[in-house]
Amino acid sequence: MPQDEQRRPRNPLAEIAAYYRDLGVAELHLDRATAPVLSAKKAAAPALAERSRAVEVVTAPDRPERLSVGGPALPTLAELAHEVAGCQTCRLCSTRNRTVFSDGDPNARLMFIGEAPGADEDASGIPFVGRAGQLLTKMIEQGMGLRRADVYIANVLKCRPPENRPPMPDEVASCRRFLEAQIALVQPEVIVGLGKFSCQFLLDSDEGMTAMRGRWGLYGKIAVMPTYHPSYLLRQPERKKDCWEDLLNVLVKLGLPAPAAQRKA
Ligand code: URA
Repeated sequence: MPQDEQRRPRNPLAEIAAYYRDLGVAELHLDRATAPVLSAKKAAAPALAERSRAVEVVTAPDRPERLSVGGPALPTLAELAHEVAGCQTCRLCSTRNRTVFSDGDPNARLMFIGEAPGADEDASGIPFVGRAGQLLTKMIEQGMGLRRADVYIANVLKCRPPENRPPMPDEVASCRRFLEAQIALVQPEVIVGLGKFSCQFLLDSDEGMTAMRGRWGLYGKIAVMPTYHPSYLLRQPERKKDCWEDLLNVLVKLGLPAPAAQRKA
C-alpha cells in the first residue's frame, strides 16, 4: 500500500457510499445495523462440539439426498479439516502450498461456496482473501449489512489448481465428499453458489451461469441462490447489479432487512 494511502484516515461511510454508487443505488438511508440479526441462530444453536455429536446420530433421510460421506457417522469439522490437510487423493496435492478448508461461523445460517483457492488463499490457507475475496467481503458486509465472521465460506476444491485453471472433473469428484460433509455439519438455511463450478456442483446441473443465476434451487432441502463469482464481477463490473439483486433475495429468504439503502424511485 502506498505510504500516503496508509496515512489517509479510512472513512467507512464513504466506502459504503462508493460501493452502493457502484451498484447503481442513488440514495442511502442509514438506520440500525442488521449484523446482530444474522447471528441470532448462534445463541439458540448448541456449541459446535455438541452439534457435531448430534449430527452423528442423524439418520440418512434427514440429510441432503445427495450426501454420501462414506459411513453412518459424520466426522466433526475439525476432523474433516485435518483430513483435508493431509489429503493426497488427487494431483493438486503435489502443487499446493496449503489446503484451504473454510472461514467463518460453523453455526452460520448463510454459506457461500466458491470454486477453488487462488494464489493468496493457497499461501494463507483462508478462502477468499485475494482480490475476489475482498470483493466478496464487501458484498457481505457493505452490500448485505452482515459480518463476514457470521457467515460460513468454503470452496468446491480445497487445493489451488495450478495457474488458477478451472477444476477438472476428477478433482471435483475427489473433493466432493469434503464439501458435502461441511454442508451437512453446518446445515445452513441458505447457500449462495458463487460461479459456474459451485452452482453446477450444488444443483447437479450442467447449465451455464446465465441460465442458473438468480433462480432459487435446492441442495437437498437447503435453498441455493446461484450468483456470479466475484472474480467475474471484477472483470464485468456492470454485472454487479444482478448480483446485488440475488443477494437482496437471499436477505428476504433469511427474513433479514436489507441494509437501509433504497433505490431512488
Ligand atoms: N476464488 C474462489 O473461488 N475461492 C477462493 O477462495 C478464492 C478465489
